[in-house]
Amino acid sequence: MNKPKRSIVLVGMMGAGKSAVARALAQRMHLPFMDSDTEIERRAGKTIRALFEDDGEPVFRQLEKEVLRDLLHAKPMIIATGGGAVMQAETRRLLKDLAIGVWLKADIQTLYERVKKDKNRPLLKEKNAKKVLAELLDKRKDFYAQSPIHIENGQGTLEEVVEAIIEAVRKSHHDA
Ligand code: S3P
Repeated sequence: MNKPKRSIVLVGMMGAGKSAVARALAQRMHLPFMDSDTEIERRAGKTIRALFEDDGEPVFRQLEKEVLRDLLHAKPMIIATGGGAVMQAETRRLLKDLAIGVWLKADIQTLYERVKKDKNRPLLKEKNAKKVLAELLDKRKDFYAQSPIHIENGQGTLEEVVEAIIEAVRKSHHDA
């Protein structure tokens, strides 16, 4: 397919597979790959976990907004966002105006299976991670749904999910 004029930006819950899918999509499309959490860690000089612990979530969210502002104004690339990125109005507006948003979806059980052993997601520190995931999804789903492309990342292989995104972008006429 032709190179898109806009960045393709993956949004969705923790455990949806945004980073893995974005990396594979970038390789397949010969475009740069960026993960907003990795860029936040680079700028802050510490891990997301340390950032939450030392500085608190509001400082993380401010950095997240700034990083996405910069990435979305840069040349086209494939971007994986953190699960809460869509909660900021400015980020949503930039996504709508400058990017091709893709909501990567999976059911709560699948999300939970993928994140349950991970100690690096501060929002899932509580005992009942599954309940937290369900509550977050409930608060966020209308914002995720504003992305024009919705793709399931449940049982399919990485290649199948990547091809499904490419096909959907082609149909959206953003690749011309
Ligand atoms: C968060 C998701 C994380 C990370 C941070 C907060 C969220 O990214 O940005 O821990 O609010 O859902 P992933 O979605 O890549 O896990």
